[in-house]
Amino acid sequence: MYVDLQKDDGVALLTISRPEALNAMNVQLLEELNEAISRVERDNDVRVLVITGAGKAFVAGADIAHMGGFTPEQAKEWSELGQGILARLENVKKPVIAAVNGYALGGGTELAMACDIRVASDRAIFGQPEVKLGMIAGFGGTQRLPRLVGPGKAKEMLFTGDHYDAAAALAMGLVNEVVPAEELVGYCLDMAKKIASNGTEAVRLSKQAVNGGLDLPLKEALRLETALYSLVFSTHEPREGCSAFLEKREPKWTSS
Ligand code: CAA
Repeated sequence: MYVDLQKDDGVALLTISRPEALNAMNVQLLEELNEAISRVERDNDVRVLVITGAGKAFVAGADIAHMGGFTPEQAKEWSELGQGILARLENVKKPVIAAVNGYALGGGTELAMACDIRVASDRAIFGQPEVKLGMIAGFGGTQRLPRLVGPGKAKEMLFTGDHYDAAAALAMGLVNEVVPAEELVGYCLDMAKKIASNGTEAVRLSKQAVNGGLDLPLKEALRLETALYSLVFSTHEPREGCSAFLEKREPKWTSS
């Protein structure tokens, strides 16, 4: 097993562990990741997912041993497999926080970018070194990176294949925060619990509004926001949230 999933108090912690290859993604690891996403999706007790890596890597990329002999057709299937799983993760109906503990190269940076929020340890290293291997990023890197950091910085990363430390990742907007390595997972779990204490549907629809709106012109995106704002009022959450505020008590989100 390369993927471990633990849950506690509304938060699931997914740890990727393939130490012999610095958590590089092979077919089995991708399948286990896909299955873990399905479990998180189905489990109503899980409100937020945190993803991290065991050891000195988050994920050191796609498995280089697997890719060298690809035919163009096999390369297409591999790219579609990885992209499909990362797109599922991006659109899972619960917030996902990447706790980037170490090397996040190639597919590792791409995995982090498919998460909603990225927090880096001060030991994290990012990069898209595919060109050093004579290939291009294939799990979304050429598309999510420019959307996050702008086309100039993205092209610099994709053309040079350089490594970028956590401070550089913070400066370019690739990560939200940098925290000391020993505090990383606790910091992300606390953030996850804070999110889990808010209205479940409200958080879910906030994610849907941002993700859906990014693909649309502003006028249409604002119509989407109105539709989702209206939709949240078909749940008990706005009544409960507003009553709790006015009555100076904590809200109870589960309808009983
Ligand atoms: N695939 C397969 N094996 C990998 C790997 C990868 N992406 N990254 C590391 N490993 C293996 C190494 O081969 C090594 O195995 P052995 O002990 O059997 O020799 C083991 O993990 C430890 O690695 P190193 O000895 O290299 O460790 P290091 O501390 O000296 O260096 C590193 C760490 C800088 C991360 C270095 O391992 C490295 O550069 N890795 C490759 C990173 C990379 O190029 N990633 C992009 C892959 S392409 C991709 O992801 C395409 C895509 O978009 C889909």
